[in-house]
Amino acid sequence: MKSSIIEFSIKNGNPEKLLSNCVIVGVYESNQLSDAALAIDAVSAGYIANIVKRGDMDGKLASTLMLHNVPGTLSERVLLVGLGKASDFAEKQYCQAVRASTKAVTASGATDAATFLAGLPISQLTAHRKVAYLAEATLDVSYKFDAIKRKKEDGKKEDNKKNESKKSFAKLVVYVAASEVNEAESGLAHGKALAAGVSLAKDLGNLPPNVCTPTYLAETAESLGKKYDFKVKVLARDELEKLGMGSFLGVAQGSEEPPKFIIMQHLKGKKSQKPVVLVGKGITFDTGGISLKPGGDMDEMKYDMCGAASVIGTFKTIAEMDLPLNVIGIIPTCENMPDGRAIRPGDVLTSMSGLTIEVLNTDAEGRLILCDALTYAERFEPSAVIDIATLTGACVIALGHHASGLFSNNEALASELLKAGETSLDRAWHMPMWDDYQPLLDSNFADMANIGGRAAGSITAACFLSRFAKKYEWAHLDVAGTAWKSGKEKGGTGRPVPLLTEFLVARANKANH
Ligand code: BES
Ligand code: MN
Ligand code: ZN
Repeated sequence: MKSSIIEFSIKNGNPEKLLSNCVIVGVYESNQLSDAALAIDAVSAGYIANIVKRGDMDGKLASTLMLHNVPGTLSERVLLVGLGKASDFAEKQYCQAVRASTKAVTASGATDAATFLAGLPISQLTAHRKVAYLAEATLDVSYKFDAIKRKKEDGKKEDNKKNESKKSFAKLVVYVAASEVNEAESGLAHGKALAAGVSLAKDLGNLPPNVCTPTYLAETAESLGKKYDFKVKVLARDELEKLGMGSFLGVAQGSEEPPKFIIMQHLKGKKSQKPVVLVGKGITFDTGGISLKPGGDMDEMKYDMCGAASVIGTFKTIAEMDLPLNVIGIIPTCENMPDGRAIRPGDVLTSMSGLTIEVLNTDAEGRLILCDALTYAERFEPSAVIDIATLTGACVIALGHHASGLFSNNEALASELLKAGETSLDRAWHMPMWDDYQPLLDSNFADMANIGGRAAGSITAACFLSRFAKKYEWAHLDVAGTAWKSGKEKGGTGRPVPLLTEFLVARANKANH
């Protein structure tokens, strides 16, 4: 699973004098060269300006043009990267340009490169941030999932998409101004730690459901805990029975795979500091249960544990960062299968809170496992609880694949999360959760039903959870549309690890200043 690793270093220097496989410089629209591009232009008697004037590179955002043996330079290649309009150039455009440059270098024969993109001016943005974005975006696009491809005789993995003789891009030198080197180093560490968590979350999502079982998730958490020295506890079925988790166990009872309840504790804040609790939905495969899903694209329901993956990924990131904050991770994990023992529509389950639930649709299982985890979270006296779940198809209909749905019983917490999403370019959108929606969950036979009908499906799902989160500040992120991509680019995205990390880093800064 160790996906292509790029080694980074930070340096100060000039683009025209350096010896590299590939120097990466930016070009804006309207024939406007960045400083680094101008420097190369100056030593090459207007070579770059000429190309731009001819229209071979129009500066369109994320377009690229690879040049070879540019006169006056010592490097084999110069990669021009389009930056779009100079007046529009901000974080998002910057990351798009970085991604495009990584793709172009990877497609070339260059094994190392020197990028000057981190030196581009972006208002309000520190060198720390710029380099963090650059490292994360670079590692994000160079991610490859080859854990389960056949190993060849040389020990390398089979790659049917790549020409075997092609060299791989492995080293990137990030050039910044001399005064920014220290900040850039800390930004690099941040970006790498974030990418490590994102990559782990992608791996867990991408693994097939016959490998990534509840037991596998528990073992992954345990080995992370060993590696980084944080506490991990895994509860098995008998202990969950003792705790009275009838709702979670109801979902688990239709599967041969034993359910697990994972508790991770990163306690690096002051003893007196109340922890942030992250709760991740860990359905390692969602068939729908007796309310069986249709067959098309059902394979994608292996991604129904991406909430759990994001919690484990975030733990890896904050452990790498040694973040001075108290954070607890809770993961209820099981399969949702149809079976002779599976729950039926009409069954009534008793949750750990004591509230009874009429199961009208066994495919609305995420909320059934999360509600018991939310009740369990009470014992930590949390400062905030955030659950992350691929909870509803309705959320995908509402927001598509760009933003995660954000629901909360606390305005301040919601704004903190929205801001973290903006800063990390991993956005969420605040959805309403007014009391008006609550009666949709009324049941004639239990305290509530587990579904609220077709209308406002992501909201009624959040309303259901809110009934178990009354004792603390709580937010819910519905990541059904953002945790993975379908189609040709099918794969986990690692979202919302960037949002969660940003939120926790901001909380740690607040706690320690
Ligand atoms: N895991 C699904 C939600 C989902 C579906 C995420 C498709 C991404 C793509 C969840 O368990 C589910 O099945 N939800 C149902 C709820 C319904 C029965 C009220 C849904 O969204 O259809
Ligand atoms: Mn389901
Ligand atoms: Zn599900």
